Amino acid sequence: MKPASIADYRALSRARVPRFLFDYVDGGSYGESTLAANIADLAAIHLDQRVLVDVSRIDTAITLLGQALAMPVILAPVGLGGLHARRGEVQAARAAHAAGVPFTLSTVSVCPLAEVAAAVTPPWFQLYLVRDSGAVAAMIDEAIAQAAPALVLTVDLPTPGARYRDVRSSLTGAPGLAGWLHRAAQVASRPRWAWDVGVRGRPIAMGNLAGLVGARAPLSDYLGWIGRNFDAGADWSRLAWVRARWPGPLIVKGILHPDDAALAAQHGADAIVVSNHGGRQLDGAISAVRALPAILDRLGGSIPVLADGGVRSGLDVLRYVALGASAVMVGRPWAWALGARGEAGVAHVLALLHAELKTAMALTGRTRLAPAADTP
Ligand code: GLV
Repeated sequence: MKPASIADYRALSRARVPRFLFDYVDGGSYGESTLAANIADLAAIHLDQRVLVDVSRIDTAITLLGQALAMPVILAPVGLGGLHARRGEVQAARAAHAAGVPFTLSTVSVCPLAEVAAAVTPPWFQLYLVRDSGAVAAMIDEAIAQAAPALVLTVDLPTPGARYRDVRSSLTGAPGLAGWLHRAAQVASRPRWAWDVGVRGRPIAMGNLAGLVGARAPLSDYLGWIGRNFDAGADWSRLAWVRARWPGPLIVKGILHPDDAALAAQHGADAIVVSNHGGRQLDGAISAVRALPAILDRLGGSIPVLADGGVRSGLDVLRYVALGASAVMVGRPWAWALGARGEAGVAHVLALLHAELKTAMALTGRTRLAPAADTP
């Protein structure tokens, strides 16, 4: 199939990467109702068609936290993202850099921060609070040393949501030979991936956490490992602690409630991301697009508000921005594209988002995006 849309990349990725990896990215928690709501609630927002406006020049650029973005899109952190193709985070970061948008490297990426920074440019770095606060401090220090342009502190994963697909695929909860054999069978049915990633893409590790995890990613019980090692005891004082250590732009990701948005701003966030973690955490939680207006109201423009969840086209980018988001984060689409076609796939997905956003702006009679609120 010649991919024409993000949905096409999803289908291609499903055929290219082992099932445990496809399902890990594609799936959500419990019955996946929040995952579905992110998409359905966005699609239900009608755009106002306007005509006979001069739309011969369209400018999608914005400035966010002092950084110039070619469009209001940021590649979201995706755990194990680098497994979708050989040294995958480097490939995705290259595509993002070429497209003029930031790439966010997950704490639980395959490639360590230094590898991406050296090969491409320093990415934004996403931080999880693991229980070992020395390890967290070391990651912040490394983000400073590598000149990461922003730190994205994810706060909605004190413990992983129940992800049934990951149990079924043996990505989690299946230690020992049976789980290994189950995953090995899934790899064996994807020989191109096995050669590209499994053989030539080594080491398959969690590069930023090598000190904690060792040289191999704990694929036999990945989410179990997260559950045991992420800091379920973290409270708002931990945000203040991170704020005190990190001098650059600090973005707090995973806010759904206006009170939490206000608390994040009070504790020093320079921006927030309205997010339910792509429907991967609290199933039944409000969709991101429905949560956005009350949060914007509460913050009253004091800090930029980003959003993620359900973006599957440039139309969806415009929907979020029209509602007041400064920019959107996009996760699954880049992982699907990476799995399907590597760096070229991610570049194509970003080109699609850009072209679709421009078309949507033209058909709604907009030539510029409202200037993003920035830090004072
Ligand atoms: C964690 O990063 C997850 O959503 O799997």
